[in-house]
This record gives sequence, structure tokens and C-alpha cells, in this order.
Amino acid sequence: MKDLFAKRMSRVPRSFVREILKVTDKPEIISFAGGLPHPDSFPHQEIALAAEHVLTQESREALQYSTTEGYWPLREYIAQRYQNNGLKVHAEEILITNGSQQGLDLTGKVFLDKDDVVLVERPTYLAAIQALGLYEPIFKSIRLQKDGIDTETLKNTLEDSPVKLLYAVPNFQNPTGISYSLQKRREVAKIISENDTVLVEDDPYGEIRFMGDHQPSIKNFLNESVLLGSFSKIISPGIRLGWIVAQEEIMDKLVTAKQASDLHTNYLAQRIIYRYLTEYDVEKQLKKIREMYKRQRDLMIAMIEEYFPSGVQFTEPEGGMFLWVTLPLGRSSMDLFHLAIKEDVAFVPGEAFYANNADKNTLRLNFSNSDEKKIEEGIKRLGKAIEKFYI
Ligand SMILES: Cc1ncc(COP(=O)(O)O)c(C=O)c1O
Repeated sequence: MKDLFAKRMSRVPRSFVREILKVTDKPEIISFAGGLPHPDSFPHQEIALAAEHVLTQESREALQYSTTEGYWPLREYIAQRYQNNGLKVHAEEILITNGSQQGLDLTGKVFLDKDDVVLVERPTYLAAIQALGLYEPIFKSIRLQKDGIDTETLKNTLEDSPVKLLYAVPNFQNPTGISYSLQKRREVAKIISENDTVLVEDDPYGEIRFMGDHQPSIKNFLNESVLLGSFSKIISPGIRLGWIVAQEEIMDKLVTAKQASDLHTNYLAQRIIYRYLTEYDVEKQLKKIREMYKRQRDLMIAMIEEYFPSGVQFTEPEGGMFLWVTLPLGRSSMDLFHLAIKEDVAFVPGEAFYANNADKNTLRLNFSNSDEKKIEEGIKRLGKAIEKFYI
């Protein structure tokens, strides 16, 4: 049987995070390893009412097959939201997907041939390495600085040899929490527009900014690109709804690829979400999430400052769900992980998030999924594990 599987399957690692989540499933363990939104943030009552409405009033349409592109009013709603933020997007340019993860897969499907070069940030979103990796590209990575990707290296790399895609997460990146400055956004747009490369801008966290100024999406400064969005972090990940923004030429190919994959995204879910978005207070929902995650992020940082030894660095994200810790050089966060598990606390060792040349002294902490008591206790335990690790 082993010999029957396609070669490409052996090149893609299983999700390291999922493997880790198995170890951290025990009730006594406080886990900062997952990447989940807080279940208290789900607007379950409103979704229940929206679902009831759709199933009682619109069931003949909602339970039927539908168009590959997605439910037109939902596409219009998403386009309008971008327009309110100053980005000119037409509903025709929106393709509704099964989460932004499907957006990544479809992008890989329409652009990548074996051995094409894909540039990613260093570190990058683990499941992007998986999704794009299935199309057998060669990954190259570019260091992420405090204010975004290293644009000097980006420019040189693109000038050196052909690159098909640049994959970037400019807002509150998973795993680091880092966001691009306005200047970096402009620079990336300029560099990409001067080369034969497509930018894939993945933005599931943009709406979860709880401090600092809103930053425009790179697409504002770039005509041709692929922009990915999602309802997972602002409403519910279980409902699996996301979208791709792309202009006609790219959209045509994406629609063909999506037809082959699944005909269309769950139509019932699309109508329920649309009903929710138009009948209930989305701004209130966003405010609730931002306030909640800011409290959790502030507490995690305060606890880190109190309980981690000096020499341990960490990012201070202005939004999103993660922060990134760097141990002194030469320390392995994988070794720390085993000590931490003994203290009943878990995180994801950073090496999972590198396409190549991992920095082994890094780790990711999630602050969205833990309440304040767990953050206090968990960071104390982690601080203890790090102290032991130092001795
Ligand atoms: C950067 C990034 N892109 C995409 C996704 C996938 O999200 P979705 O639930 O929309 O498929 C995630 C989820 O964690 C993510 O962090």
C-alpha cells in the first residue's frame, strides 16, 4: 500500500500542531498551543435565530445546489465592507470558500507547477506550508522583521530568479503576531508590481485589531493580487466560511478549480451567515472579541514580564491571537516543551513554522483561547519550566 500513495504526500509533514494537541489534551494541562478563538466569542444565539429563519423561510433555496462563486448577497456584503474601508472591490471579484484554508489550496492549484518557487515569511503559517506544499513547490523564506518582511532581501530575491508566489500575512501574523508597517506595505506592493510574481495576502486577523491604527491591506497599492479573508476568527471557525478577492483573470481559474474540488461552498451556511450579518450587530460582536482578546493579551504580557527570566524576548501584538517568544540563542524550545509538559503547560515549539532553516529557540503562545485564570497560572508554570531549563 505504502508504494501506492502519490509521492507528493510524503513531502508534506502532518500538522505538527495537531500532533502536539494530542499530548496536550489532558485536563490538567493548560495549553497555549492551539490556535482557536474563544468559544465565549461565538454569537451562538444569533446564529441559532438566523439558522431558524433560513430553514423555515428559505429552505427550498438554501438546501439546494448553488453557484460555485457563492451566494450573491454575501459576496456583495463582503465587497461593501472592503469599500467602507477604502478598498475598491466589486462583488464579482469575491469567491466564497470553505474557510481561507481552501483559498490557499485553490491558489496553489491554479498557480503552482512542481518546482515553482514560493516565497514565505520566516516564520510562516504552518498550514500554508502544507496547503501549498502539496503542489510540490520549492519554498524559500525571508526573515520577518519587527515591522514586516525584510524588503531588501525580498527585492534581491525577486530580481535574482523567478518566483511564482509571495505568501504573506501582514496583520497579526500567525505565529508571531507581527504586523507590517504602512511603509513595508507600500514597499512590498512596489516590489511585487515590478516583478512577475503574485502576492497572496492572507488576512484572517485584520478585524481583530485592539490597539494602534488600522493599516490598509497591501491590495490597496497593488492591482493584481490574491487576498484571502475569513469569518473564522470573527464569527465561528466551525461554520467554515472564507473568501478570495481576485480580479477576473485569476477568478476564472479559481472558479474552475473550485468546481472540480467541491462544486460550491456550503450554501446553507452562506445564507445563515448572511442573515446573521445583516440582521444582527456585527460591530458589537467585533468590539466584544477585541476587548476580550486585548484583556487576555495584556495579562499574558504582564505575566511574562513577571515570571520569565530576562533574556527571553517576546512580541507585543496589536491584535490577533498569538505572541512569539524567543529564547536565548542555543536553547531549544523543543527541549523546553518536554519540561513544560511536566509542569502541565503547553505551547507550540517554533520550528513547526519554518519552511526551512528553523530557529529552534522560538515558540508560539496563543492567548485567545484561555481565560484569565488559565493565563495567570499557565504563564507562571511556563516561567518555572524556563527557570529550570536555564539551570
Ligand atoms: C494565517 C492563517 N490563514 C488561514 C487560516 C485558516 O483559517 P480558516 O478557518 O478561514 O480556513 C488560519 C487559521 O488559523 C490562519 O492563521
